[in-house]
Amino acid sequence: MRIVLLGAPGSGKGTQAQRLQAKYGVPQVSSGDLLRDAVARGTELGLKAKAVMEAGQLVSDDIVLGLIRDRLARPDAANGFILDGFPRNEDQANSLNALLKDIGQPIDAVLLLDVRRETLMQRLAGRRTCPKCGTVYNVHSLNGATTCPREGAELFQRPDDKEEVIGRRLEVYEKQTQPLIDYYAKLGLLRTIAGEGELDSVFERMEAAALAKPLPPSSVKVST
Ligand code: AP5
Repeated sequence: MRIVLLGAPGSGKGTQAQRLQAKYGVPQVSSGDLLRDAVARGTELGLKAKAVMEAGQLVSDDIVLGLIRDRLARPDAANGFILDGFPRNEDQANSLNALLKDIGQPIDAVLLLDVRRETLMQRLAGRRTCPKCGTVYNVHSLNGATTCPREGAELFQRPDDKEEVIGRRLEVYEKQTQPLIDYYAKLGLLRTIAGEGELDSVFERMEAAALAKPLPPSSVKVST
């Protein structure tokens, strides 16, 4: 399984990537998690990225590509990966193509999670994370709990999930990342999934799309 998850902030990429990872044993490679880890460790790269992330803008392509390259070189990614949050613009997509060609691991499919803006806003404002196990929850399904049901730790809100930053992140997605939908459609890799509804139903749709056989080359429309 070598897939890219595409979708707006809050569309469920991270949630579904964790489920795919648990079921298929293929690692979730999340550019956001790699960056947040660098920020938490206070590395030079993390210090550069922190303010950019908190402002809801994209971190420089060089920094993110370096993190992804290192992560894909680790042994657990030798037989597949679930890319979550990368690529984010056309330059990153071109760099990814070159990198995957080098390591001989072409993408099988790009899964686009399609979710309405109103739902995205609600999900992002309600997202809470456990600092111990990293599990992502939502206040709408926690029934008033403020601690992790598994670890008992106090849940926290991501700094970029504050209302004023959410709008900016969605704008950045529309301007810079949405063009990748056409980019991957032209390559015959795009599969669009309805991203609203129960987590299990979305997961079933993702799974079916991830495992579907690619279209035979003869059925891919080539413009002349
Ligand atoms: P990143 O961490 O990648 O954030 P994002 O793409 O904005 O995506 P999110 O993590 O916000 O959403 P998600 O789709 O994973 O949703 P989730 O599953 O959590 O990036 C953060 C920042 O890092 C960027 O702004 C940028 O600064 C930087 N960055 C990262 N990658 C970069 C790159 N390639 N280049 C440059 N900069 C980069 O779900 C959200 C909530 O909804 C959760 O509470 C969840 O429980 C809930 N939920 C999910 N599915 C459902 C459902 N079906 N029903 C009800 N609730 C649901």
